[in-house]
Amino acid sequence: MAIPPVVTTSNGCPVADPFSTQRIPVATKDYAHPQPPTGPLLLQDFRLIDSLAHFDRERIPERVVHAKGAGAFGEFEVTDDISDICSAKFLDTIGKKTKLVTRFSTVGGEKGSSDSARDPRGFAMKLYTEEGNLDLVYNNTPVFFIRDPTKFPHFIHTQKRNPATNCKDPNMFWDYLTANPESLHQVMYLFSERGTPASYRKMNGYSGHTYKWYNAKGEWHFVQVHFISRQGVVNLNNEEATKLSGEDPDFQTMDLFKSIENGDYPVWDCYIQTMTLEQAKKLPFSVYDLTKVWPHSDFPLRRFGKFTLNKNPENYFAQIEQVAFSPSHTIPSMQASNDPVLQSRLFSYPDTHRHRLGVNYDQIPVNCPLKSGSFAPQIRDGAMQVNGNLGSTPNYSGAYNCPASYQAPMKQSFNVPDEVYEGEVLPFSWLGGIISDYDYYQPGRFWEVLGKQNGEQEALVHNVAVHVAGADEHIRDRVYAYFSKANKVIGELIKKEVDSSLNCSGTSSPRL
Ligand code: NDP
Ligand code: HEM
Repeated sequence: MAIPPVVTTSNGCPVADPFSTQRIPVATKDYAHPQPPTGPLLLQDFRLIDSLAHFDRERIPERVVHAKGAGAFGEFEVTDDISDICSAKFLDTIGKKTKLVTRFSTVGGEKGSSDSARDPRGFAMKLYTEEGNLDLVYNNTPVFFIRDPTKFPHFIHTQKRNPATNCKDPNMFWDYLTANPESLHQVMYLFSERGTPASYRKMNGYSGHTYKWYNAKGEWHFVQVHFISRQGVVNLNNEEATKLSGEDPDFQTMDLFKSIENGDYPVWDCYIQTMTLEQAKKLPFSVYDLTKVWPHSDFPLRRFGKFTLNKNPENYFAQIEQVAFSPSHTIPSMQASNDPVLQSRLFSYPDTHRHRLGVNYDQIPVNCPLKSGSFAPQIRDGAMQVNGNLGSTPNYSGAYNCPASYQAPMKQSFNVPDEVYEGEVLPFSWLGGIISDYDYYQPGRFWEVLGKQNGEQEALVHNVAVHVAGADEHIRDRVYAYFSKANKVIGELIKKEVDSSLNCSGTSSPRL
């Protein structure tokens, strides 16, 4: 941005001295012995009021979750043809590039919290495609804590601050999780070393949810997306993460910034797993259940692209704090599945953006559909309308099959065969909220995966023990039983370590 030649007020009026606050001089003038002014300030001093009033309003609401984060710009490149799965135009030619912005984040902490906290990491991306902005709002874990979206506020509250003490509370934390054991798979992931990544550059991203992608013939597949880091997956252990949280809570934000500044651009390879409806019907779990992964052996990864982060933001607030991602920001060939958590997210993100950034959040430059533009003649006015408001274009339109005398140009939507539903409306708990043995099968498989790597099982046991030692005894007993559902030995090992640490200190361990 060009620097203006002189300092001005916000309306552009030049200011001789930015600190020249207007003040009435001393009541009695003594020109022989001039004194600094000591009288009242003047309401007419717009330069001062302009500056203070704007400062008073500098803060906008922080994100209710994922408040602390770091971001960068880059580009996606198609490496392999997947036109049999998806007809997205940005994927139609090998080598084709699309600009993007990413934001990585922790989940539970506030905007000033530590980058090294034990937490899932958000992994969000906005691709500026020719068919509209495509947001991929993922995490660094392939599964999630819930499969019933009404649990989300309850769950998040228990990972945040106790309403009375305003402190993080291990009793709340474990009380919720053990009462909702579909969370076990994600909790095991969280307390493995992957719960404390060493760098935003050195972690994978996963859609977690099942999506539906359509090819040009209108055929669709269920799809899960994996971003695999070329930097490898590198983690901190619990003690390293705790130390770093105290000494350099912004470590990972700076790590991303510096690596890009130094030309060491991070790269991820992009893969899909695909599944047909017929295959989904034979699964031992619901394809809409995001507490489950699709086993690699049955659903192998297929590469389709890579992306590189090669440009830092010039202004964090404008470009990263104000970026607004949503799973509902999508393009015609990539649609949400009926995963109820995903369906709820389609509503929740634009809703929170209207609260956090305002109703015209999509006019903020980083959120504008750069390549495709947008044209929605009925979406008009509202606070901070700054893009011309579509001028004199009529503010309504007829539909494709029902023309009015003003007819906005539009593309006929294609009719595609889709899933068919009928039946009673039932509470979710009847339909999928019930816990089955299979809910513990994949956590058990995860424990076996950890067993193949040096020290990973021991690390999980240690990481849980250190955390749960701060909880009350009856909650600790529930935690041992909870992990034992994945493998009996886990609960016993955690209890052993907790008991020995409590016997040594004679008291609960310090809270983490
Ligand atoms: P596989 O043995 O084929 O895959 C295991 C996967 O686990 C690896 O490919 C890797 O995924 C991930 N992994 C490896 N080491 C670790 C570690 N130390 N911490 C966390 N994750 C690790 O088996 P399945 O596909 O049958 O899955 C078995 C279990 O592995 C699952 O129950 C799940 O808990 C876990 N897993 C599965 C994933 C999937 O999409 N199938 C993805 C991640 C974990 P990656 O290359 O993505 O890092
Ligand atoms: C951020 C809601 C589940 C990934 C957010 C925000 C809300 C929210 C309100 C703040 C957005 C903002 O202020 O800009 C929910 C709800 C969920 C849910 C209601 C379930 C019912 C998930 C899941 C994932 C996820 C399952 C990943 C698979 C993210 C990411 C961000 C985020 C990456 C940060 C986006 C950014 O960097 O701006 N979520 N979320 N969320 N969520 Fe979720």
